[in-house]
Amino acid sequence: MKIVVVGSGAMGSLFAAFLTKSKEEIWLLDKNKENAAKINASGISVEGVSGSWQAKVKTTAGIEDIGKADLALICVKAFNTKSAVEQIKPILGQNTKILTLQNGIGNVEIISEIAGEDKVIAGVTSQGVTLIETGKIRHAGNGETIIGSIDGKTPVELRQIREIFNKVGLETKMSRDIKSLIWSKLIINVGINALAAVTRLPNGRLTEYEGTKRILRDAVTEAARIVKRKRVKLVFDDPLAKVEAVCEGTSDNLSSMLQDVLRKKRTEIDFINGVIVRLGQEMGISVPTNKLLLDLVKTIESSYGHSV
Ligand code: PAF
Repeated sequence: MKIVVVGSGAMGSLFAAFLTKSKEEIWLLDKNKENAAKINASGISVEGVSGSWQAKVKTTAGIEDIGKADLALICVKAFNTKSAVEQIKPILGQNTKILTLQNGIGNVEIISEIAGEDKVIAGVTSQGVTLIETGKIRHAGNGETIIGSIDGKTPVELRQIREIFNKVGLETKMSRDIKSLIWSKLIINVGINALAAVTRLPNGRLTEYEGTKRILRDAVTEAARIVKRKRVKLVFDDPLAKVEAVCEGTSDNLSSMLQDVLRKKRTEIDFINGVIVRLGQEMGISVPTNKLLLDLVKTIESSYGHSV
């Protein structure tokens, strides 16, 4: 199988590095020429829960180098999904699958619109990873990945992907209800990401202070109300208990949104708390805590370079 990992951020680098342990043909695509050249020359170095190791991976900024792919794994930020899928059009063949494990709501819809729903495989991952610099990552937590097709079927490609991922040490399961999984992951991101970005605390500390505990609870409760009204079933019964458990399970991890803020990068806030705010308005459900988190993170983004 020819697998193309799109995006060399934390998650893309982790998946690309692990996948080089397989017998498959692995490519990493990064639209930034300098980053691509650096990784192509020096590889990816990983440190953390999976040990200290190096992976050599063919990396390019030129889509024309790759040829038709069997699988494209989209690892860009949600606000770049549209341009990434437009960019990879030349490598999409009749049977190419596109897998998104990205945070937030909207990626499946964007990819489906450009490439067709039959191509899309979606999922969630609990891998914890921090980008130290281009080509250098810290593997902070070894969580499971769950994948599924939109129609709930389990085509051969899905089983193949699961097998390849498991063989290289990326623990992967299949699900027939990917919608539940994506919304369940959203609840986790709603509770953790913005709050971590605003307070600059690692995940585990968010439940240690009265104030953050209360904000986390309110953000999650509001989001759970929206999900209930949408009649989406979550994969856990108690959303708050689940989010608190994730904080504990990923205690040293800096949430991806905190990593973005520390690097003065645009965040995925519109695809996480922003989704809850939009749906709250549409449904007439009050979501003040999510609105506050949205406004704060937007302000942080707008004031990069002006704040002390
Ligand atoms: O975005 C993230 O950082 C992760 O999805 C999670 C689960 C919140 C852990 O940090």
